[in-house]
This record gives sequence, C-alpha cells and structure tokens, in this order.
Amino acid sequence: MATQTRKAAKALKDGETSSPCRVALIGFGTVGRAVAKILCEGDRDWLRLTHICNRNVERKKQPWVPSDVTWTESIESVLKSDVDIVIELIGGLSPAEQIVRSAHGSGKSVVTANKQLIARHGSDLLELAAKNGCQLEFGASVAGGVPVLPALRTGLSGDRLHGIAGILNGTCNYILSRIENARVPFSEALEEAQARGYAEADASEDLDGGDARAKLAILALAGLHTQVAPESVRARTIRAIDAVDFDYAAELRCTIRQISRADLQGDTLFAEVGPCLVPADSPFGRVQRNLNLVLTSGQYGGDMAFLGAGAGGDPTAVAVVSDVMFVAEGLAGGKRKVKSKVSAPSISSDFETPWYLRFFVRDQPGIVARLAQIMAAHRLNIDSLLQKPGFDKSSLPFVITLEPCRDSMLHPALEEMAGLEFAIRPCLCLPILR
Ligand SMILES: NC(=O)c1ccc[n+]([C@@H]2O[C@H](COP(=O)([O-])OP(=O)(O)OC[C@H]3O[C@@H](n4cnc5c(N)ncnc54)[C@H](OP(=O)(O)O)[C@@H]3O)[C@@H](O)[C@H]2O)c1
Repeated sequence: MATQTRKAAKALKDGETSSPCRVALIGFGTVGRAVAKILCEGDRDWLRLTHICNRNVERKKQPWVPSDVTWTESIESVLKSDVDIVIELIGGLSPAEQIVRSAHGSGKSVVTANKQLIARHGSDLLELAAKNGCQLEFGASVAGGVPVLPALRTGLSGDRLHGIAGILNGTCNYILSRIENARVPFSEALEEAQARGYAEADASEDLDGGDARAKLAILALAGLHTQVAPESVRARTIRAIDAVDFDYAAELRCTIRQISRADLQGDTLFAEVGPCLVPADSPFGRVQRNLNLVLTSGQYGGDMAFLGAGAGGDPTAVAVVSDVMFVAEGLAGGKRKVKSKVSAPSISSDFETPWYLRFFVRDQPGIVARLAQIMAAHRLNIDSLLQKPGFDKSSLPFVITLEPCRDSMLHPALEEMAGLEFAIRPCLCLPILR
C-alpha cells in the first residue's frame, strides 16, 4: 500500500476527520459530471474530491465545483498525487487500462464504470489490485444504476449461483417494446430511439449484442466466478425482428425481448445474447422502455430480481459513488467512522395519491350528483365512475376514482359523505399506487 493511502487508512481508523479520503475523478463527461455533483453536494467531509482530470479541461470547468479542487489535463499528475481513490470514467480500453494498472501500481484503489475494460481484463485487474493491497470496484459497469454487481459480490456471495439472465441493453429493450406496443417496423423504432437519445447513430454494438455480451461476461465473472471472453459468447442481432413476430408471439401469450443468459452446468457455461420469446406476463415480458432487469438463480437462495435504470448520468453516478464509499470504508478498516447524518423529521401520512372510493348505497335518483357536489365543494377531481350491472338496488356497489389529492383534502369530504341517507356502509377509501 502506498504511504499516502496507509496514512489515510490510519487516519480514518483513528477517526480523524481532519484527514479525509482523497478522491480523483478522471473523465468529466455524462457520468463524471454527475459523480462530481454528488460528491460536491454531499456532506461527506470524510470523502473529498481533490482532482478533476479531462482533456482540454478548461471548457469543462463548473462554478459549483469547490475552488480547492484541482482541474487538470494531466493524468500522470493525478496518478502521482496523494489521492487514495481514482475514479476512471473516460471509457474505452486505452488509456483506461493503463490508468487502472498504474493507479494500482502505486497503491491507489480504483472505481470504474468501464464495461469494455472489465469484460476483457477484469479478473487480471482484480488480481493486480489484490496484489497491491488495494481495491477495484466496477458496480456501474453493468445495468448502470441497478445495484446488481454489488449484490452479486456481497449480498449473494453466500449462495452458489448457477444462472444469470438479464435484459441488459436499454436500447434493444426500447426498440422491441416500441415495436410491441405500436406495431411499427424495426427501422421506425430504431429512428425513434435515435431521436430520443436512446440509441447512437451507429447502434451496431447495441443491436447486434456486443454491448450486452460484455455485460454478461462481467456478471458471469462476479456471480458465477467464471472468466469469459465477450467474443466467445454468441450474439444474435435484433435487426430481423418484425412487427408480425409480436403478433405471432402474442398468440403464444408471449412477447420478444433481447435476453442475455449464462447458465453454469458442471464445467460448461451455456451463454448467449439475442432476441427470445418470453411469456408476456413474466418479469422479462413486463420490462418496458429502456429499463434493465437481471434475474439470478442460486442453489440455496433461489431466484432474485433486480430492476431499474440501466443507464443515464445520475443513476450510473449513484453506483459509482456507492463504490467509492465502499472503498473508503475499506480504507477505514471496514468501519464507517463518520456516519451519514441521521435526521429526525416530522412524520406525516398525508400522501398525495389518486384514490379509489367504493360506496354501497340504497339506490335512488341523484346519488352521483350529490357525491359530485360534495367532491367539487372540497376541490376533488373525479377521474372515473365504475358501476357493474346486476346488483340488488337495495345494496348497490359502485366506485369513484379520484385524481391525485392529499389525504387531508379527502378526509373532510369522506366525513360529509358518511352522513348521506343513501349510504348503507362507510365508503371504502384506498390509495391507488401507480
Ligand atoms: N452514460 C451512461 O449512461 C453509462 C452507463 C453505464 C456505464 N457507463 C460507462 O461510464 C464511462 C463514462 O461514460 P460517459 O457516458 O460519461 O462518457 P462520456 O460522456 O463520453 O465522458 C467521457 C469523458 O472522458 C473524457 N475523455 C475521454 N478520453 C479521454 C482521455 N484520453 N483523456 C482525458 N479525458 C478523456 C471525455 O472528454 P471529451 O469531452 O473531450 O470527449 C469526456 O469528458 C464509460 O466507461 C461508459 O461505458 C456510462
């Protein structure tokens, strides 16, 4: 371990808040900027952003970054500095690989979101980190903000996992769910994804499975402890999927998703990426837009599911900062010396939600008009009125749904309605969670 890192570790162990863990950020793009924001806005005085490094850095400078942060375009000066943790967010293989190797060589821990680097050199770099007494964390490299990698490496490490399957590419999922829902041709769904910024101009890596298989290789490394070259995993394209395939899939109560799956059976890892039919009402079938879903299967714990935003600056930055905090705690001997502040808020149940109101009434003319009058007087907006036929008129159930309002606004109206002569039961009032 390098001298500075040892010093910081000791300081953190001793609870010295005057020697915070020093963090450098290399790459101030979509994710880097969001990471810097979180680090600068937080009240973590035990974790300090000291350097931001990017080529042509002048144009990157932001007024919200504290003045004691050093802006630089020299990667070398960052690596020679006394930082404890280097965050690599430039992407690609070179010079990212050299940055990580050189940081570890000088005893610095690294946090990265770089899937290409980890998919190709992950096990090698983990070994290098361990040899140098430091850590390499890459929780954001698969499924962006969904904490599936930390779960595999810690929360599920007690299980013996044998299967991992996922929707790992938001672009493909956006395109396929768009064809499914609007029955548009593939080319139109792709153009739309490009226009909305969900797909790059050259989307080959996404459409043909290159992106997803790199992520699958990382999941296999973290969860199945297998080293897999991404290129060794078969990847089938989604370009051939047509709207008519969704019609036929629907006949089978199925839909189509790009699924990445790896199943370890003895000494064989069955792995592939490509479009598959999945039951429409299954977890995979229900994943819409550009969300990611990962399902794991373990010998003891059974199946687990992880769903959320697979990309985007802010969700990915959360995963990066969480890794940084994890490493910093490791430097502090595994003990969090400076706990997150705990606040003592006032407690309220006054949620603002849409509402479901179910009435049982003795039928007579003017009931709906009377209820509507009370709701209008309390400034409540009716969303819908539902009444099923065939009930006895002396005990008639019907439902009114309301647009979002606070519990405190609804309550006086309910009290007023409870006194109505046609109400034969108290109104059942349920929030609608969407
Ligand atoms: N964006 C996401 O939603 C997402 C999700 C998961 C993981 N990731 C991963 O996170 C990493 C960063 O992604 P991003 O979307 O933030 O990329 P980005 O927006 O392209 O940012 C990369 C930044 O690094 C700088 N840079 C590139 N090469 C450099 C070099 N040789 N020296 C100094 N600076 C250099 C770029 O400068 P310029 O401005 O000059 O180009 C840019 O500011 C990638 O590994 C990516 O795969 C991203």
